[in-house]
Amino acid sequence: MQSKVALLWCNAAATSLFLLSLRAKPPPPNFWKRYYCSSFYVAAKGTPGQPFFPYHSAMANYLITGIAGFIGSNLARTLLARGENVRGIDNFATGKRENIAEISGRLDFREADLLDLDAMRQACQGMDYVLHQAAIASVPRSVADPLGSNRANVDGTLNLLVAARDAKVKRVVFAASSSAYGDTPTLPKHEEMPANPISPYAVSKLAGELYLQSFWRVYGLETVCLRYFNIFGPRQDPNSPYSGVLARFITSMLRGEQPTIFGDGEQSRDFTYVDNAVAANLQACTTPAAQAVGRVFNIATGHQATLNQTVAVLRGITGYQGPVQYGAARAGDIKHSFADISLAQKHLGYRPSVGFEDGLKRTVAWYQEQGAPMAAQASERSR
Ligand code: UD1
Repeated sequence: MQSKVALLWCNAAATSLFLLSLRAKPPPPNFWKRYYCSSFYVAAKGTPGQPFFPYHSAMANYLITGIAGFIGSNLARTLLARGENVRGIDNFATGKRENIAEISGRLDFREADLLDLDAMRQACQGMDYVLHQAAIASVPRSVADPLGSNRANVDGTLNLLVAARDAKVKRVVFAASSSAYGDTPTLPKHEEMPANPISPYAVSKLAGELYLQSFWRVYGLETVCLRYFNIFGPRQDPNSPYSGVLARFITSMLRGEQPTIFGDGEQSRDFTYVDNAVAANLQACTTPAAQAVGRVFNIATGHQATLNQTVAVLRGITGYQGPVQYGAARAGDIKHSFADISLAQKHLGYRPSVGFEDGLKRTVAWYQEQGAPMAAQASERSR
């Protein structure tokens, strides 16, 4: 009873103090609106990465590298919807201005290259978290230009880490790659397995991981590596020869054109919808250090599909009933990729909330909204 009375007194005292402080210094005009509806506030007014007034402690400052890319631009939308402050950099090597056009008024965007250390230092200033998505993300492109891949993915990552360390950011989360596992026969792939990278791209992503772990061990910079397994979804560029396979398949099939499978189509991937990767990044920022920092986590759906099976599913969704073309297998390709996601489930609380087929449906719907016709309409038009 006594403790209840004491609690009541404490409550009353705290409330009085709070009310008195408001009298002495009334809150800014938007305080209540921002306190309760911070995401709506940001959406309505636009906040280019400026520090908020003293009551903004619930929000954090995020730097997204590669913000105009496929995953970076999806991350930015989610963070803005949550009312966070977002700064982004991109050099438009593979990113697209249209990916951030509709949100650019709410971002602190800076056109900058990872190789420009001064620009990285400025970009990291005042940031809590760095979500490092920028990369040249293609196996065949790295085979054609290993030096270019190394510069962007290794030198660029190292520059960013130096800048993040010196700016004392709280944590860096890195878009690592399942390609690091290479062609080891064990399936599913788990994080304890030795790395066995094949392509220069895989080597560059593994080097990035090792640098992140080194910066944690040597300088105490908190880092987390997320090994992405074939992320797909809205805003993935379908138009480059180096584009991800699902963006290429879906847009070809919607146009009524035959997709090309490199090899026999029996290679498999653990295709992962982009919202799952976005959620993993945000969980990686806020999970207590003891569970996450210095570690590598698989981020996938935990579902294995061959390209032939994937085409069959896409026929059902897009309506494409034409032929499929088979071409030569690509150098540097791995045969099977399928993840054990139990470590991320255990430590990050990661759950792939959007499954493979649901993700395909959402992606097809998005390309259609962008003007891609359904296969039936496309073949009608070409007659
Ligand atoms: C992809 C990512 C890479 C990521 C890795 C692991 C892209 C461009 N690459 O590499 O960044 O680190 O997953 O998550 O997103 N294929 C076809 N026809 C096509 C295109 C590709 O058959 O038109 C085949 C390829 O030969 C390969 C498979 O599809 O066997 C997947 O290729 P791709 O989408 O380029 O991804 P990965 O090489 O697995």
